[in-house]
Amino acid sequence: MFEKLEHLPDDPILGMMAKFRRDTSDRKVDLAAGVYQDENGKTVVLRAVREAEQRVHDAQKTKTYEGLAGNVSFNRAMQRLIFGESHPVINDRRVATVQTTGGSGGLHIVADVLRRAEKEPVVWLSGPTWPNHRPLIRGGDLSFEVYPYYDVERRGIDFDGMLGALDQAAAGDVVLLHGCCHNPTGADLSQGQWDQLVGVLERRGLIPFIDMAYQGFARGVDEDAYGARLCAARLPEMIVVTSGSKNFGVYRDRVGTATLVAPDADTTAACASHLANVTRTVYSMPPAHGAAVIDTILRDDKLHAEWLDELGTMRDRINSLRSRFSAAMAERTGNDRFDFVADQTGMFSILGLSREQVDRLREESHIYMVASSRANIAGVRQSNLDYLADAIAAVLKP
Ligand SMILES: Cc1ncc(COP(=O)(O)O)c(C=O)c1O
Repeated sequence: MFEKLEHLPDDPILGMMAKFRRDTSDRKVDLAAGVYQDENGKTVVLRAVREAEQRVHDAQKTKTYEGLAGNVSFNRAMQRLIFGESHPVINDRRVATVQTTGGSGGLHIVADVLRRAEKEPVVWLSGPTWPNHRPLIRGGDLSFEVYPYYDVERRGIDFDGMLGALDQAAAGDVVLLHGCCHNPTGADLSQGQWDQLVGVLERRGLIPFIDMAYQGFARGVDEDAYGARLCAARLPEMIVVTSGSKNFGVYRDRVGTATLVAPDADTTAACASHLANVTRTVYSMPPAHGAAVIDTILRDDKLHAEWLDELGTMRDRINSLRSRFSAAMAERTGNDRFDFVADQTGMFSILGLSREQVDRLREESHIYMVASSRANIAGVRQSNLDYLADAIAAVLKP
């Protein structure tokens, strides 16, 4: 039986990470992996997380199963992180949340509920989007459409193209949006663009499906939730998926949430029952540790403040690297081609290099990024910035 299985090629991003690990050069630079790195190239455990882990460990009395929805206290805390302390959708009991195995688990769980709710659900993805969106959501009778989002040539959002495409969508279609720190482009909608977009979603009866994998990495926890909070205030239905991987740095603990907002409390209760029922058929119950840690942080004033401080440090470092990278490239190229990197947010930007230039950077200079020239700016350091800028400038020369 198994001899019929063909060996699959590596996942493009994970494959690049494996190549990086095998590279023995001490000049190698990792701009491929989607994890935050500090100035020493380390992805460290946050202080707030360490302290919360100690408290969880000390207080733990059992390892029996959580319920199907996971840690209910954590789910409530996450609702407040997404929507703010006293958003009407929370007060009106219009929010159903389950704990999931990372943002990836959340995307998959939501897709299964969509299939139950709608006969042939159509999901609109941004062009481009995170490559794992399609495989995580795919299945059954669900189909995809793509709305234009980022124009690599112009290095900016094609907002007219986006609204034009969504104006053709049918009522009830689902629109997957990046809440902030768009992956892979780093180009986020402004508040004014969110305002306009919500008008189109409202007029066409479309349902926003917001992937908030990076809340707090762009401008701040509340600022980054602008689009999600606006949709919740204006629309009868929406979907939000979050991840604790990046903003709490608990990548391997696999914790996130899937949230449905429904028009009234009864429909919300039905949504909650389906979210729970779907998890039963996928992994039964989520792992407890990461959610207990995040819940401990969000419910303790001191730990909460410490976490916000550490999140701010990560965000400020990325934003300052963005400016320094743009300046270093302007110095070498004598033009403003890379200025857009300073204006974008989150870890990623598409540098606009050809496949051949990306390959040359890896082969000649041990600089790793994915084939689309998506670079993780958090992989840049003061100590490798000049080396990196020189190498990129060299491959750009005709
Ligand atoms: C846009 C986006 N969504 C979701 C995820 C999933 O994150 P995780 O499953 O690690 O929590 C990621 C991770 O890279 C991402 O970039």
